Amino acid sequence: MTSQKGVTVWFTGLSGAGKTAIARYLEPILRERGLKVERLDGDVVRQSLTRDLGFSKEDRDKNIERVTFVAKLLTRNDVLVLLSFISPYRVMRDHARDEIGNFVEVYCYCTLEALMERDVKGLYKKAIAGEIPNFTGISDPYEEPLNPEVRIDSSTETLEESAAKVLAYLEEHGYVPPVPKLDGSTYTVEEEQLIEERLGALGYL
Ligand SMILES: Nc1ncnc2c1ncn2[C@@H]1O[C@H](COP(=O)(O)OP(=O)(O)OP(=O)(O)O)[C@@H](O)[C@H]1O
Ligand SMILES: [Mg+2]
Repeated sequence: MTSQKGVTVWFTGLSGAGKTAIARYLEPILRERGLKVERLDGDVVRQSLTRDLGFSKEDRDKNIERVTFVAKLLTRNDVLVLLSFISPYRVMRDHARDEIGNFVEVYCYCTLEALMERDVKGLYKKAIAGEIPNFTGISDPYEEPLNPEVRIDSSTETLEESAAKVLAYLEEHGYVPPVPKLDGSTYTVEEEQLIEERLGALGYL
């Protein structure tokens, strides 16, 4: 596609809510549509660009400030940025929105109960035992988005369903071209999901 419009898809939510999983799921799908995609993930960025920072309020703000700067540069160069950071403070997310412009906030919600049960990284157990200070949702605040463009609930939806919601939003707003059918019309997200499932079952994906 020659006329890609840059956008930052900003995944926010508690640890384990699905920010990384959804972004990783979408990355190859978007590339297959011919888009330039860059994925910025909190865990990775904290090992490089912001490895000097910890989890105090001040450091969390700096972390978001720096990644906002990077996302802004990419977005204005017509890249689709998938950005997964807990980003617990509303004012920092709103600042990012103002700076970046084309901005899609995806609130990855999940009940605390499901998160504790899932405990992907084993961090909730430690946080509840008091072994991790400043753990978002347990011993540190998380300010929910008031008007996110997309809200997913990973305690009730499958990964595929949540990702399809994000993709549908991006298609509806012209950030992602719909897939053309042979007759010139386009597939809906549901149709596309079905096709992918069938191809997967046949061993093609
Ligand atoms: N609907 C869903 N959307 C996203 N992930 C889901 C969903 N349902 C179940 N999961 C599972 O939940 C887990 C989410 O973990 P993930 O690493 O993506 O969280 P995260 O938000 O990136 O956390 P962190 O802030 O610690 O990096 C994965 O194991 C994923 O497979
Ligand atoms: Mg993650």
